[in-house]
Amino acid sequence: MGKMGLRCLVFAVLVLWSFSSMVKGEDDYKYFTWTATYGTASPLGVPQQVILINGQFPGPRLDLVTNDNVILNLINKLDQPLLLTWNGIKQRKNSWQDGVFGTNCPIPPNTNYTYKFQTKDQIGSYTYFPSTFMQKAAGGFGALNVYARSVIPVPYPKPAGDFSLLVGDWYKTSHTALQQILDSGKSLPFPDALLINGQSQSSFSVNQGNTYMFRISNVGLSTSINFRIQGHKMKLVEVEGSHVVQNMYDTLDVHVGQSVSVLVTLDQPPKDYLIIASTRFTGNVLNSTSVLHYINSVSPVSGPIPDAPAGQFDWSIVQARTFRWNLTANAARPNPQGSFHYGKITPSMTIVLANSAPIIGGKQRYAVNRVSHIDPDTPLKLADYFNITGVFSLTAIQSSPSDGTPSLATAVLPTSLHQFIEIVFQNDEDTMQSWHLDGYDFWVVGFGLGKWTGASRESYNLVDALTRHTTQVYPKSWSAILVSLDNQGMWNLRSAIWERRYLGQQLYLRVYNPIQNFANEYDIPNNALLCGRAVGRRH
Ligand SMILES: *[C@@H]1O[C@H](CO)[C@@H](O)[C@H](O)[C@H]1NC(C)=O
Ligand SMILES: *[C@@H]1O[C@H](CO)[C@@H](O)[C@H](O)[C@H]1NC(C)=O
Ligand SMILES: *[C@@H]1O[C@H](CO)[C@@H](O)[C@H](O)[C@H]1NC(C)=O
Ligand SMILES: *[C@@H]1O[C@H](CO)[C@@H](O)[C@H](O)[C@H]1NC(C)=O
Repeated sequence: MGKMGLRCLVFAVLVLWSFSSMVKGEDDYKYFTWTATYGTASPLGVPQQVILINGQFPGPRLDLVTNDNVILNLINKLDQPLLLTWNGIKQRKNSWQDGVFGTNCPIPPNTNYTYKFQTKDQIGSYTYFPSTFMQKAAGGFGALNVYARSVIPVPYPKPAGDFSLLVGDWYKTSHTALQQILDSGKSLPFPDALLINGQSQSSFSVNQGNTYMFRISNVGLSTSINFRIQGHKMKLVEVEGSHVVQNMYDTLDVHVGQSVSVLVTLDQPPKDYLIIASTRFTGNVLNSTSVLHYINSVSPVSGPIPDAPAGQFDWSIVQARTFRWNLTANAARPNPQGSFHYGKITPSMTIVLANSAPIIGGKQRYAVNRVSHIDPDTPLKLADYFNITGVFSLTAIQSSPSDGTPSLATAVLPTSLHQFIEIVFQNDEDTMQSWHLDGYDFWVVGFGLGKWTGASRESYNLVDALTRHTTQVYPKSWSAILVSLDNQGMWNLRSAIWERRYLGQQLYLRVYNPIQNFANEYDIPNNALLCGRAVGRRH
């Protein structure tokens, strides 16, 4: 086909595409203007500085529909550079909009940047939050929900309503003071409290007899939580975009950075009930309660308060293994046909990532395979695009652990577009870890005790493991994931434990194809901010 022929074809496809989207009235454009400012809130009874988005703490709930085109202008009125990241939104071909230091120049104070991205087929509950410095400790986070277009069936009846519950540990200390503690080489103290939706007391009004969806996200900095509702069972329906086998649970563990959606039927006598979240695996247990208020309630909360499970890590692993993909549900899948037999593909590469907590230069740092990441002066994605050498090296970090002295470096692991890979998170420390990968969801195929070896693969779930964007790793244990690298870009692989990430426990997965092709990856956005060694480049 000649160039003209190709142009005609592209034009015809575009016309058809816009016509079909007009007919359906979907693939909408949604415009937002968000301003980040400081404000004051008193979640623990004493006024403290928080980060507001459009005057709200937590930030506004971002309700989107699959295929929505989001145009979101973020105005930074803080005194530090800012980026928001869309935790779990896959940003197909578009790491340009991921909102982390490796892909975007941070938005300087008193300026703005317009994010442009499309939500794909990933119906579920997500969050957004600042990826910059320790700002997440002060707010700036919110719920991000992706609903199904009317033409896409979901495997549960439409609930009477839905509530987002952002649960997270919290400090009375400001984010800049917390940052100073970390910069000085020390760890953060234990948090002061656990909050639900930025409050220590909140209330949800519901109608007896109806079924509601509760979207529970752990937006905290360091602690896993357990979640439960007095007198009610929870039916798990969705985990980070996976429609799961719909088991009933009394309590659920949700680790840092993770989200789950449950359905709750209000089938109890009309009174008020407690909603409880508590920290998991901590010596000191912090609790947060909210009220589930039946609108026809005749009495306040009473009766026994449900306990957190007595079992600790073993209990939690057993529960984690009950989260299974619903293989017959016709919904979000890595490929549209839902016939992706991930267990039958042999990975072309195994990456083993061991976390550690070394002291480097007299300061507390955190590392992966002995490398403690430092952000470069120029986003990695811009360095790649403009062919700026010297920003990162593809050999700074190795793809498996080795002995030697830990060091500071910009950590980028090279992979190729369309590889199918296995990543093992090896946790030899005695604390809970949580790992998140941007740009993807991945199959969580196994959790095991001790050191992972090739033989550990025999225990993998190769049939109905769920896909998600964040996996927990238990102490002195490993977690294994499989990832289909179908999304070109520069993607942040990070500890969701915020102190660890801030002090170096993160890296970038460069999913690369040497031939530039806008069918694989979008061109640099025309409003891209330029910084570091990319200043003054033309694009
Ligand atoms: C900043 O906002 C203005 C509209 O107020 C918009 O035209 C401009 O593109 C935005 N800047 C960036 C870098 O997105
Ligand atoms: C899986 O999804 C199907 C289709 O919506 C539904 O009928 C079925 O009950 C679900 N199975 C389980 C075990 O949750
Ligand atoms: C939280 O609740 C548990 C009981 O469920 C209790 O043992 C613990 O002391 C409580 N923590 C605080 C800080 O009140
Ligand atoms: C970067 O290098 C590649 C390969 O040599 C080339 O195709 C591309 O045009 C270069 N990009 C810029 C912005 O110079």
